[in-house]
Amino acid sequence: MTTNALRPRHIAVIMDGNGRWAEQRRLPRIEGHRAGVESIREVLRAAHELEIPYITLYAFSNENWHRPKEEVNFLMRLLSDYLDKEFEELHKNNIRFQAIGRTDMLPEEIQKKIEKNIKATEHNTALTLTVALSYSGRLELVDAVKKISEKVARGQLRTSEITEAVVSEHLYTQGLPDPDLLIRTSGEMRISNFLLWQMSYTEIYVTDVLWPDFRKQHFFEAVEAYQKRERRFGRTHLTR
Ligand code: IPE
Ligand code: IPE
Ligand code: MG
Repeated sequence: MTTNALRPRHIAVIMDGNGRWAEQRRLPRIEGHRAGVESIREVLRAAHELEIPYITLYAFSNENWHRPKEEVNFLMRLLSDYLDKEFEELHKNNIRFQAIGRTDMLPEEIQKKIEKNIKATEHNTALTLTVALSYSGRLELVDAVKKISEKVARGQLRTSEITEAVVSEHLYTQGLPDPDLLIRTSGEMRISNFLLWQMSYTEIYVTDVLWPDFRKQHFFEAVEAYQKRERRFGRTHLTR
């Protein structure tokens, strides 16, 4: 199925539809979030099988803080459990764990667990799993502008030296290649403030499958669809 030339190196995923999955079953929304954890495992297995080196998952947006307190609390508990329980599995599978976003907004106990997981897996090489937590693409750009302007003010950088590469290096995703493919589940045709800078030429794949129903097969289908796309980067197919 995959030839090297067409294999996406970096796949970003907007894991959406947990609430609707639960509502369809007349369950509380949190049951959808709980069920969604298995889909994360499936994606990691599928990425491992296809030897995809970078996976980035949108788990909690900065805007998601505005959800009902009980839902936010449940999501934090789920995240805390995930960081405890999946750690062995990630490490065993040679997965490097990273987090992007305003993680300082998260409960302190979770920040510590994130740090612990990052440190313990930093030398793993099979796959880099980046989880977006308290993430906002616009705030990421604001933070980058602040860091760059501080350097200019201190005389460490000239305005004329600011290039696309400089901006990229000051984003949370510094060191990651831009995503080749974005998968969004549950049919929504929007980006919801995810990786705004990084997705300038990302191929977008939207499936109606709700996140808790997302399995390896669906991941393979997305990669197959990607392989049929023609990425032009503004050129014509003749000038590639
Ligand atoms: C995605 O599922 C999970 C998070 C945003 C945390 P939703 O909770 O957004 O599910 P829907 O969109 O309401 O169905
Ligand atoms: C995007 O989903 C955020 C995550 C998946 C974490 P949302 O459900 O929050 O996005 P909107 O509100 O439908 O745009
Ligand atoms: Mg949603």
